[in-house]
Amino acid sequence: GIELGKLLAQTGYITYDPGFVNTGAASSAITYIDGDQGVLRYRGYPIEQLAQHSTFLEVSYLLIYGELPTKTQLEEFTSKINRHTLLHEDLKRFFDGFPRDAHPMPVLSSAVSALSTFYQDSLDPFDQSNVELSTIRLLAKVPTIAAYAYKKSIGQPFLYPDNSLGLVENFLRMTFGLPAEPYEIDPTMAKALDLLFILHADHEQNCSTSTVRLVGSSEANLFASISAGIMALFGPLHGGANSAVLEMLEGIKADGGDVDKFVERVKNKEKGVRLMGFGHRVYKNYDPRAKIIKQTADEILSKIAGGDELLDIAKRLEERALSDDYFVERKLYPNVDFYTGLIYRAMGFPTKYFTVLFALGRLPGWIAHWREMISDPQTKIGRPRQIYTGEKQRDYKPISER
Ligand code: ACO
Repeated sequence: GIELGKLLAQTGYITYDPGFVNTGAASSAITYIDGDQGVLRYRGYPIEQLAQHSTFLEVSYLLIYGELPTKTQLEEFTSKINRHTLLHEDLKRFFDGFPRDAHPMPVLSSAVSALSTFYQDSLDPFDQSNVELSTIRLLAKVPTIAAYAYKKSIGQPFLYPDNSLGLVENFLRMTFGLPAEPYEIDPTMAKALDLLFILHADHEQNCSTSTVRLVGSSEANLFASISAGIMALFGPLHGGANSAVLEMLEGIKADGGDVDKFVERVKNKEKGVRLMGFGHRVYKNYDPRAKIIKQTADEILSKIAGGDELLDIAKRLEERALSDDYFVERKLYPNVDFYTGLIYRAMGFPTKYFTVLFALGRLPGWIAHWREMISDPQTKIGRPRQIYTGEKQRDYKPISER
């Protein structure tokens, strides 16, 4: 494939492929997807097995280093991460510059970008020990930054990390805890969030991961590349879909819970009306992540929130869509985001914050791809071509003659 690509480039022909529907931009050994069968594997391990038996930290290790860790490797990895969870006090002040109602995604992206200024002496993308340190710093500090972005939005003081806790537990405490009060971690909630992070951890060349690889291909450092990936995730057609699903369900509820009416609006292609949480560029079958989430949503929602009317609307909406020709013909099935928002809401996260949780989950995948890209001898700077459709040539006119 690579040789054929080189040959085609020499002929001067350009492949016109908007949205890169059929363009392989990299070779990768990280994640395998069979979109027709609804199969997802990280480093060869089926997502169902990882969801059932693994933890987010173990999956992070697997994605980044290629193998499941031994007990000692996992202990070392965990302790290294625990030693880097603190933010520099000056970085904490950075949050003061944002308006109080700032969306947490740009806050997260900006703070991650700012890490490049705090660690200027360890940014060389080809120095293995620098890359290793940046990897650990990101895995450790992004949850702290994410929790502070939330605290900032509700006007509460920041909590220092408690490194005797696990990554997810620490994040929950920094997000929902108060300095003077003990915070009791709900194990059901911690386990559910850990599971959701596993399910979001990688998804090969999606929009944000491709962004991380593209920015990194210019040899920009890891912090800069991840910061760009976070912004790519912000959009409602990508990570922003989890917030958009909840807004859609609330809209249907406010309109009397009539799913038929909403589906008709989608089918009529009313401007801006899509069935959010449905459809996927690669999956033309049920998203295997959505299957796992749906199975657990009932259990988690009844434990945490005592049931949810919106879950009922979501289920009716799914059933209605899956039996409708419009969705059947286009092979539109629920994707990972269809049920996640309901769980996040039950956990107490505001809608605006859902995409930050996606970013926390996707972080190890972005890091794994950046590292794979930077160490691949085939990597070249990403630089697509175009089909030029503008004016051929014209002469400059002075302003008085225009
Ligand atoms: N609701 C209604 N119609 C849809 C939907 C949807 N959610 N998704 C696709 N379609 C229709 C399109 O209108 C199009 O129909 P047409 O041929 O009659 O015009 C056809 O299905 C193909 O859709 P495309 O937009 O060409 O598919 P693409 O692969 O470009 O888009 C995407 C994939 C962006 C995920 C799309 O399905 C979508 O917008 N879904 C809703 C947003 C969403 O849930 N995003 C999360 C994706 S998963 C993730 O990032 C984690």
